[in-house]
Amino acid sequence: MEHLFKELTFSNGVKARNKFLLAPLTNMQSPDIGKLSNDEFNWLTKRAEGGFGIIMTCAMPVLKSGIGWKGQLGIYDPIHEEGHKRLNAELHRLEALSIAQIFHAGVRANIDYADDKVGPSANLEKSARELSFAEIEKMKTAFVDCAVRAYDCNYDGIEIHAAHGYLIGQFLSSKFNKRKDVYGGSFDNRAKLLIDIIDQIKEKTSSSFLIGVRISPERFGLDTDEMITLYKILCKNKNIHFIDVSLWDSFKLVDDGPHKGKSLLKLFTDIDRGEKLLTVAGKIFSYEDIEILENNSVDFFCLGRAAILDHQFPNRLKVERSNFQPYSAPVTRSHLLREGLSETFVDYMSTWKNFVSDVA
Ligand SMILES: Cc1cc2nc3c(=O)[nH]c(=O)nc-3n(C[C@H](O)[C@H](O)[C@H](O)COP(=O)(O)O)c2cc1C
Repeated sequence: MEHLFKELTFSNGVKARNKFLLAPLTNMQSPDIGKLSNDEFNWLTKRAEGGFGIIMTCAMPVLKSGIGWKGQLGIYDPIHEEGHKRLNAELHRLEALSIAQIFHAGVRANIDYADDKVGPSANLEKSARELSFAEIEKMKTAFVDCAVRAYDCNYDGIEIHAAHGYLIGQFLSSKFNKRKDVYGGSFDNRAKLLIDIIDQIKEKTSSSFLIGVRISPERFGLDTDEMITLYKILCKNKNIHFIDVSLWDSFKLVDDGPHKGKSLLKLFTDIDRGEKLLTVAGKIFSYEDIEILENNSVDFFCLGRAAILDHQFPNRLKVERSNFQPYSAPVTRSHLLREGLSETFVDYMSTWKNFVSDVA
């Protein structure tokens, strides 16, 4: 168990104090045009207090057209800077690294809050229009500008959210991307938006700034073999430091297709990733779960619901060791309020199946 609490060193020399990462978790707590609220500040800093070595923000839109939810934290405008600086000062005082997750919801934008609905191709079902070539260039600039803003606001790095079927994932998918230009067609073309964004962020930030990418291995109109190809491309990309594979269930066996019955995780861990560090997310609820993943060559561990249930997961595990009993859902509203969620976030968690026992 000791090794979980040893430093984690990325290829650029940046170190985290341990191997616990707070997953990016949308929490709807910043309703004032995306300016960081005290609720969102408390939710994140409490996890740093509880021992998480790396704190990641929720998915933050890079443009107003990319907003996916009410109350989503923003980073697309200078008005957001003050909150991010305040957050980073506290996270660093608590000796945690901070990572900003950036995204654009694409055809899944929430038009009650977003000012447009765009995607790689028009999507009638979602009432979204196709981005023009010139708009894709602007989109890249928006991602890069937000990464630079994150850097200027003292984040230790960014994660580009290419998972879960949002804009970058829509470009990767042959189901959503029907373009005929250099951003559509072959898989390399569909991945061009992501790769260009990575490379331009690297150019505009410093070598000490961490760059990671979150990918989905399946679902969301994606082909698992293409995602394995993407993973191989990312493993060779000199400009990134970590890859985050969002498995939803880290212990899942593939349901169908050519890899049916194989471990979804192993499809990725079998690939030589050179110096890139790998984190995965999905149903990591106990020390035993972490141990299995560590034995399967995962470098650090991304906890979502376990971190919502227990802000002190790392600290408690460190002290209680083999006596550590994680909390498990469903839990009461008052438990979650004690764990530093606001009423708004608890309401949101009530919409997740079997999470809150006394739904208001
Ligand atoms: C309430 C909630 C909000 C989430 N928001 C995000 C998000 O903003 N960005 C993202 O990449 N994933 C998001 N996810 C997915 C989590 O980061 C994580 O991958 C997923 O919950 C699986 O991990 P877990 O089983 O430890 O919860 C969210 C999940 C939950 C439960």
